[in-house]
Amino acid sequence: MERSHETITPFDREYSLRDLLPPEVVLTWARAAPPLGLGHLSVLMPDGTPLLPDAGCGEVTRAIGKRLAETRPGTRALKETPKGWVILTPLIHELDILGYLVLGFNPDGNIPTDELTAAETILATAITQIMKSGCGLAMASRVHGEVVEDTFANLKEKAAQLAKSEKKYRLLAASLDKEVKRKTEEIRQAQEHLMQQEKMASIGQLAAGVAHEINNPMGFITSNINSLDEYAGELIRFVTLQRDLIDEAHRAGLFTDDKTARLLSELRHIDEGADIDFILKDIPPLLSESIDGAERIRKIVQDLKDFAHPGEETLCLADLNTNLDKSINIVGSELKYKVTLEKDYRPLPPVQCYARQLDQVFINLLVNAAQAITDKGTITVTTSHDSTHAVVAIADTGTGIPKGKLKKIFDPFYTTKPVGKGTGLGLNVVYNIVKRHRGSISVKSEEGKGTTFTLRLPLHRALPAEENEP
Ligand SMILES: Nc1ncnc2c1ncn2[C@@H]1O[C@H](COP(=O)(O)OP(=O)(O)OP(=O)(O)O)[C@@H](O)[C@H]1O
Ligand SMILES: [Mg+2]
Repeated sequence: MERSHETITPFDREYSLRDLLPPEVVLTWARAAPPLGLGHLSVLMPDGTPLLPDAGCGEVTRAIGKRLAETRPGTRALKETPKGWVILTPLIHELDILGYLVLGFNPDGNIPTDELTAAETILATAITQIMKSGCGLAMASRVHGEVVEDTFANLKEKAAQLAKSEKKYRLLAASLDKEVKRKTEEIRQAQEHLMQQEKMASIGQLAAGVAHEINNPMGFITSNINSLDEYAGELIRFVTLQRDLIDEAHRAGLFTDDKTARLLSELRHIDEGADIDFILKDIPPLLSESIDGAERIRKIVQDLKDFAHPGEETLCLADLNTNLDKSINIVGSELKYKVTLEKDYRPLPPVQCYARQLDQVFINLLVNAAQAITDKGTITVTTSHDSTHAVVAIADTGTGIPKGKLKKIFDPFYTTKPVGKGTGLGLNVVYNIVKRHRGSISVKSEEGKGTTFTLRLPLHRALPAEENEP
């Protein structure tokens, strides 16, 4: 395991003579010395003070200690003292002098061999003892050092692991935070969607009610206006002829008596006062505008009804090319002045569908395409099929739809048209009808270039039984 030098300091292995030579051992030696023939035995600290001040420490020892404090000899020294010979042996451990072993001999001038042998034995014992204790202490200190270092290393490793897992938890917390935000946003959107759906459901109910209420009076208003248009035509022709006749009779001098002259003058008075010329000219456009308005209301009511109660029709097999042509004829007036219509039809197998509803899909898409063309442009209607679907594409060279708005165009009531021109229900109705046919609708658009809506309608579809009911 790698160690860091700045954090691990070596274990302090300094120990004194006391640690290496236990006083009780020295005491035993001191007691054993005289019987062995040695004058005395004592141990001094490096500064000359006796290790055991109370035992075996005579005058000689103290004198030597004093000298020692001044001279500090590094090697074994044999000295003659007034009381005999003294051997002073430095006790060295790990190159340090830890103290001195003092051995005294009898003061008879010679050192007897037996005493020397005893001295050597004591010396060897002392050295062995010091080495043993030294090794013991060194081992203990090493074990201690290892334990400390090991514990430190373990701690370091644990700290590193903790740091790692803390980082992991911090990352986890951050990603949890992100996830919570994402989920909150999802819930918010779902809630918004739900609220929107609820709003739409109540708007749908309201729309259905309004559509129903408007539908009946609109029925007779439309029928009456159409009859009125017819009658007005007749009346205009009749009044114009009458006026011509009166002018002719007047020129021929037929109104000479008082009564006819008065009637003629009254007639002329009304004619000029009411500006009959203008009325006769204004009646046809007024009626035609009203018929257009009634038609617009009819379409809005129809859209509202479809929005509220989609699909009240039975399934049939239809040739979509024929239905497309029918729809093109219906919207003819919208297309006539500014649109060049191009058709690229492939023969289609019969498609199982609610034909009237698909007519409405085509009409809505064609009207949108025409309304997107401001000046002059082209609408191209293409049909084709594969083994499972009929494909109808309606492309225009109109204004196009901004990218950011593409997501909104199928929303009910989304419109960019001026008030009175669009309700914003057309594409929503289209979407719902296509969905009911289990088909799909896609749109590609480029601002300033044009838009293409592509429908894919399954040729056959298995419907739940109730869907076949009107
Ligand atoms: N072919 C198209 N080219 C450009 N914009 C289109 C086209 N078709 C639809 N749009 C855009 O989508 C909007 C929604 O169309 P949608 O048919 O639903 O409603 P609308 O045409 O505005 O009103 P209406 O209910 O009378 O159809 C339109 O207002 C228009 O901005
Ligand atoms: Mg529309």
